[in-house]
Amino acid sequence: MTTPAGFPASRPRRLRRTAALRRLVADVALSPSDLVLPLFVKEGVNDPVPIASMPGVVQHTRDSVRKAAAEAAEAGVGGLILFGIPAVKDARGSGADDPDGVVQVALRDVVTEVGDDVVVMADLCLDEYTDHGHCGLLTDGGEVDNDATLQRYADIAVAQAAAGVHMVGPSGMMDGQVAAIRHSLDSNGFSDVAILAYAAKYASAMYGPFRDAAECAPQFGDRASYQQDPARSADEAVREAQLDVGEGADIVMVKPAIGYLDVVRAVADAVDVPVAAYNVSGEFSMVEAAAANGWIDRDRAIDELLISVRRAGAGVVLTYWATEVAARLSR
Ligand code: PBG
Repeated sequence: MTTPAGFPASRPRRLRRTAALRRLVADVALSPSDLVLPLFVKEGVNDPVPIASMPGVVQHTRDSVRKAAAEAAEAGVGGLILFGIPAVKDARGSGADDPDGVVQVALRDVVTEVGDDVVVMADLCLDEYTDHGHCGLLTDGGEVDNDATLQRYADIAVAQAAAGVHMVGPSGMMDGQVAAIRHSLDSNGFSDVAILAYAAKYASAMYGPFRDAAECAPQFGDRASYQQDPARSADEAVREAQLDVGEGADIVMVKPAIGYLDVVRAVADAVDVPVAAYNVSGEFSMVEAAAANGWIDRDRAIDELLISVRRAGAGVVLTYWATEVAARLSR
């Protein structure tokens, strides 16, 4: 369309001319309180251990995880999610619900440090704690036993709740896990503890660096029999999310984030609870590696990717960049 004088009738560029115009019409923003920082804490180490495949991320000691939590709180980060790496692993992942297990100890310390100022979460799974590296108990035939695993998750939830967790994050993709955990929390006096359900979690190569960080690579096979197939449509993710909401999930999460923005959008449109997305380790490390090579502008790439996750419909974003981005945003 042109005007009678022959000029373009519509000029979207008018609203892009200055930074003030662009700010005025921006629809989505990143805010520190929407970001959640994953933290790894390792039992029995005296110094933080760098993770080679995740530059700048470490396996924390008992002391350093507390400091990292305080720094995140200071920067205004909305939440923390703890992952534990036990000194000893066994077939049933006993460390996961030991009251003196690595995550329970760290939870007590971190909650003492930040109180109610930051939402303190814990990943609720078995893979960091089992010697075989799978997210559940195994049958004699080496399959992950869904229903036997639910009882373990129910016990882990109570151990984490007793240690002060505000929200548990079941990530094992067992059917019925949210209901089992909700029932266990409620019947043990922890009805206030919320559930962040990893509702749509794909069997992804993007978890590679995390498995170094959490020392939880499966010792045989892979997780494709319980995590979702990337080749299925977002409808399956919507169904998973709706099931979890029905079982009592307070927040549903899509994971990974960047390659799954269509899934984030579909889930956000379908449920009426808050939606989170996990910007996972491989997504982090790809940006860091490209930036280290001078191939991209690191800070701009980080902001753009995180904004894309917000634009797709996630209100909460888990990211290893949480403290850094929150600090930058509040300057
Ligand atoms: C399982 C769990 C995984 C991640 C979070 N929770 C790994 C897996 O499913 O293999 C991956 C997170 C990341 O890659 O950043 N406890």
